[in-house]
Amino acid sequence: MQGEGIIEELVLLDGKPAARILCAPSLIPAPGRYLLAHANGSDSRPALYPSVLAASIFSTKSFPDTSASAGGFLCAPPIPESWTPGTRLNLRGPLGHGFDLPVAARRVTLIAFDDLPRRLLALLDSILRQDASVALICGNPPDDLPPEVEVQPMSALADICNWADYIAMDAARGSLPELKKMFGMGSPLGVRGEAQILIRTPMPCGGLAECGVCAVEGRKDPQLACEDGPVFDLNELT
Ligand code: FES
Repeated sequence: MQGEGIIEELVLLDGKPAARILCAPSLIPAPGRYLLAHANGSDSRPALYPSVLAASIFSTKSFPDTSASAGGFLCAPPIPESWTPGTRLNLRGPLGHGFDLPVAARRVTLIAFDDLPRRLLALLDSILRQDASVALICGNPPDDLPPEVEVQPMSALADICNWADYIAMDAARGSLPELKKMFGMGSPLGVRGEAQILIRTPMPCGGLAECGVCAVEGRKDPQLACEDGPVFDLNELT
């Protein structure tokens, strides 16, 4: 679906600007899904190709319970430098596959391999609502985490993977070869429960033009992050 949003304010998350975007509740991306967004007037291309220069954006926290005119979400960094409060956005989505937190999950681990964990933290409200314990592994933990989140170092990875009954990860596409070594067949890391991974890669057309820029090497076949992902079951890739 397509619609409009407006940037209500910019806030600093982990020292980087993030945008609070007001939009219709139906446009708010669930954790791991994304919107293609571009600023009104930022591109003179005809409406048929509105997403060619669009940014793919993710939520780190949604505010769906307010009225349709005031609801929206906090968009995880990075955002385009030209975005300022009051900027009107053309939005397309939500697109792609997001995280499927099992309702029975009681021990959840979030792992951000090479970036800040903001896209993963979009899961936090759902995790806490179902009274699950949550561990976070990342290099630079944010300083505004709720006390329920137990931060662990990367050196605890093996133990935490064994503890969790659901794991959500975030990694750049370039990290896949290393992840295949870590989690692939015969690897030393055992994953006891379900595991999913968000692959960060440019997704300029969101599947509209079949550009192939977002191709990801799957375990059996190539996958498109924009349509088959950006969240994959870990065993689809490793
Ligand atoms: S972004 Fe163009 S095919 Fe995926």
